[in-house]
Amino acid sequence: MEKLIQYFPTQLEEALRQDTSETLGSGGSYQNVLIAGMGGSGIGADFVRGFVREHCPLPIQIVKGYALPSGIGSHTLLIASSYSGNTEETLDVVAQAQRLGAQLVCVSSGGKLLEMAKQQQLEHVKLPGGIPSPRACLGYSIVAQMQVLVAKKLAPAELLEQVQSAASLLHQEQELIRERAQHLAQAIGSKLPVIYSSTALTPVAIRCRQQFNENAKILCWHHEFPEMNHNELVGWRGEQDEVAALLLRQRDEHPRVEARLNICKAVFDQYAGASIEVIARGNNLIERSFYLVHLVDWTSLELAKLRQVDPSEIRIIDFLKEALKEV
Ligand code: F6R
Repeated sequence: MEKLIQYFPTQLEEALRQDTSETLGSGGSYQNVLIAGMGGSGIGADFVRGFVREHCPLPIQIVKGYALPSGIGSHTLLIASSYSGNTEETLDVVAQAQRLGAQLVCVSSGGKLLEMAKQQQLEHVKLPGGIPSPRACLGYSIVAQMQVLVAKKLAPAELLEQVQSAASLLHQEQELIRERAQHLAQAIGSKLPVIYSSTALTPVAIRCRQQFNENAKILCWHHEFPEMNHNELVGWRGEQDEVAALLLRQRDEHPRVEARLNICKAVFDQYAGASIEVIARGNNLIERSFYLVHLVDWTSLELAKLRQVDPSEIRIIDFLKEALKEV
């Protein structure tokens, strides 16, 4: 896992270099976009939707489960994202959407999804195979989904240039980010992490939770501002010694969100066992998001070390998948 995390900036660059012109066309006429994917292959969709928000003329929905939203038909661009290509929920949604005539583009390294793409001559992006942890392929997943939207003229190619500058930033900063991650992990220690961010950084907060869950084998939760101010804030009553509040922040937030974060930081300082704030580096949302992803990925690895657990193993998910086969 350490090598895979270290490789992340290079993974972004490799993904950007991949020639997709043979397997992706610019054709198609769409009214909406649906991205289906679970876990490490679903989180990429949250990032992509945020990155293209100001540019994509069509609504983008994300499905992480079995239930197809309404409004799906032959006018729908369906991007199916599964690293293994065998994830039950994603395949199920693909089958339902195909029955309604959705235009499918597959993003996968193999399995049933890629087989289907080849058999039905569907548009696709083939991801490099052989990586045991799909969550470590986030760079491939995000870039491939963006490449699909750029090919379909639903997002400008300049966004891919921002991914390149993010990769350069991470190469430059990697050692400092690792040091920062060690301090963060020590501050969290054995406390329960509660991760907060603005909605713009919610995908990073989700990534952080998932990486703490899977790599460090811990429970934690996340919430976003301003919504958190209307409910969860009330839970901050009195000392919460066992909780580490982690605020993921960036410049240029909405001024009222910024004010809310500042006021609440003082509440966490007073009540949380640890109150930690990290501020993203970078010139735009893409650079800042990748900066924070790299930081929380390293932090999850440091937490795994502190807790003496193997960051790669996910035996309980394997157990679940086996048990499901019996049902
Ligand atoms: C495993 C992981 C999981 C998978 C998820 C979906 O490292 O992070 O969250 O990403 O079980 O599997 P794929 O990505 O193969 O569709």
